[in-house]
Amino acid sequence: MALLVALEKCKDAGLAKSIGVSNFNHKQLEKILNKPGLKYKSVCNQVECHLYHNQSRLLDFCKSHDIVLVAFDALGSQRVKEWVNLNHPVLLEDPVLSAIAQKHKQTPALFALRYQIQRGVVVLTKSFNKKQVKENMQVFDFELSPEDMKAIDGLNRNRRYCEFLPK
Ligand SMILES: NC(=O)c1ccc[n+]([C@@H]2O[C@H](COP(=O)([O-])OP(=O)(O)OC[C@H]3O[C@@H](n4cnc5c(N)ncnc54)[C@H](OP(=O)(O)O)[C@@H]3O)[C@@H](O)[C@H]2O)c1
Repeated sequence: MALLVALEKCKDAGLAKSIGVSNFNHKQLEKILNKPGLKYKSVCNQVECHLYHNQSRLLDFCKSHDIVLVAFDALGSQRVKEWVNLNHPVLLEDPVLSAIAQKHKQTPALFALRYQIQRGVVVLTKSFNKKQVKENMQVFDFELSPEDMKAIDGLNRNRRYCEFLPK
């Protein structure tokens, strides 16, 4: 809570436009929302969010409090060894996702990103590959049908990639 007060002071001093949090569950969000004397509400909460961990309950909670859910690991983090449990399946190789993407002549990555945008999630991804950066920008050029959205919703298994495994 002391950090929150410090951040509020930063905003008052014009050093920050808004305050956001990361990796907060709904109980932690509730705690800061109910903090006596809260001056500024958190505008966003950045969490791991993808097809296998779609955070639908947290998303509903955030929407009901006008907090933007920001997704990281939206492409499944692509097997960065220090963070990721390598025993988990590769998200972009999911057979349902691949079949839907193929049907629409798009890539699984674009479908995984578009899914988030259509459910009101702000999605982060990164790439060092120019071709993939360009590809990801096409996320605004097409739409998923309600049937595709439903099929992708069905892939959720509340499985995190980021486990911060001991080295
Ligand atoms: N708040 C937190 O706790 C937290 C935790 C983790 C990450 N983040 C942030 O979230 C952001 C996103 O990073 P992320 O780690 O979550 O990863 P991600 O977006 O799930 O995956 C990034 C990986 O996907 C690959 N990629 C990008 N576009 C692709 C495409 N079109 N097709 C196939 N592969 C593609 C990239 O590889 P190439 O470079 O080879 O293209 C990169 O290795 C970063 O800014 C990161 O700092 C925040």
